Amino acid sequence: MIVTIDGPAGVGKTTLASKTASYFHLTYLDTGAMFRSAALALGPGVHELPETVIAAALSKLDYTLQGTGPDAVLLLNGVPLSEDIRTEEAGNAASALAKSTSVRSAMVKAQRRMAQHGNLVAEGRDMGTVVFPEAECKIFLDADPAIRAQRRFLQLQAMNKPADLQRIEQQVRARDERDRNRAIAPLKPADDAVIIDTSTLDIDGVFRAIVHCVESVQS
Ligand code: DC
Repeated sequence: MIVTIDGPAGVGKTTLASKTASYFHLTYLDTGAMFRSAALALGPGVHELPETVIAAALSKLDYTLQGTGPDAVLLLNGVPLSEDIRTEEAGNAASALAKSTSVRSAMVKAQRRMAQHGNLVAEGRDMGTVVFPEAECKIFLDADPAIRAQRRFLQLQAMNKPADLQRIEQQVRARDERDRNRAIAPLKPADDAVIIDTSTLDIDGVFRAIVHCVESVQS
């Protein structure tokens, strides 16, 4: 069983994918974390270098999953990823690097290799369209950019971190633009995806829709 959850930044993929993994005891694969950690490991401006240089740098990055099920831990070169990948800057750097052809093909290979060992819920941008086109259940989450920016703003405020709503909304829109319009594996729903607009639904409402989708393919 493979469940894919794709969608733009700030739509709630991570919360919903980990909830789905726990509920159905699936291994959770956060592919955004792979792009984020690669961008941090390769350093600022790497996306501007020639593809051959990017490919050589990337060949030194080895992604593996430690364990299976909802508590599986994603490792980079044997080490769990640090919380540094969770900043807006890391997200933007990941989005810029994600346009590279060599990065995309290396990530697809690593993601499929990690899926070999069992049942999986994979979240990202191209899980249902490119990486796991044969997945049994494909979910595409979407929400108005202003609402996603507002959610992020409230999260940062709750963590007592500096937050500027206007700037966050600009970043959300810029990342959408890049992720949706890149040449390879752009963010878009697979033809057979269930599309859920989370603008007006709370997490429980969206989760019920995902459970319904998984249960309908299980029976
Ligand atoms: O889901 P996220 O915000 O952690 O992802 C960070 C960036 O990584 C996203 O803006 C684009 C890129 N990404 C991608 O191109 N393909 C994926 N499957 C996952 C993420």
